[in-house]
Amino acid sequence: MKFFIDTALLHEIREANDLGVLDGVTTNPSLMAKAGISGKENILKHYHEICQLVEGDVSAEVIATEYEGMIREGEELAEIHENIVVKVPMTRDGVKALRTFYKMGIRTNCTLVFSAGQAILAAKAGATYVSPFIGRLDDASTDGLSLIEQMVLIYRNFGFETQILAASIRHTMHLVHCAEIGADVVTCPLNVITGLLYHPLTDIGLAKFLEDHRKANA
Ligand code: G3P
Repeated sequence: MKFFIDTALLHEIREANDLGVLDGVTTNPSLMAKAGISGKENILKHYHEICQLVEGDVSAEVIATEYEGMIREGEELAEIHENIVVKVPMTRDGVKALRTFYKMGIRTNCTLVFSAGQAILAAKAGATYVSPFIGRLDDASTDGLSLIEQMVLIYRNFGFETQILAASIRHTMHLVHCAEIGADVVTCPLNVITGLLYHPLTDIGLAKFLEDHRKANA
């Protein structure tokens, strides 16, 4: 399972990358705004900077909502770096754009996916990745992980090559369950990735080992 970080903050990307387990980055317009990045030139420059930091796919989202605009923006984003994956929303125009990008050889991530039907459509259109938002489904009293289960089954049934990129991950158990179910990728905030490190018994055990060593070598 690949680990992507879901942020546009360079210091967070560096920290996850330093751990040596990072496979890529996802961003969205909200995350770019949160990182204080605005204006077309700055946004393109920022994506370039992220691509220099990480060896792996970097999702960059289109802002346009109609087909022609999506294609124009996607081509521009794809030119920034070979690791850019164009993120396209699950809409009628988005699905058309996914198909066109597929034919053009531009890799895509279909975002804002909340149902198995949407996931089938995105895979049929040739999306490289599809992003079900499991945390937001949970927020709406719907089991987000069940959607991942459905997608794993459906994609396996028909041999779709589209990768399931579990997004809107809120905590470490989301990540662990996605691994059990067989999601191809999880994209998480930094605290979820680093949260995997900790267990109180590890800390207690290490303190005891060091204390015993100190006593024996006093
Ligand atoms: O990148 C999209 C997704 O991960 C958003 O997560 O926490 O805003 O629902 P969240």
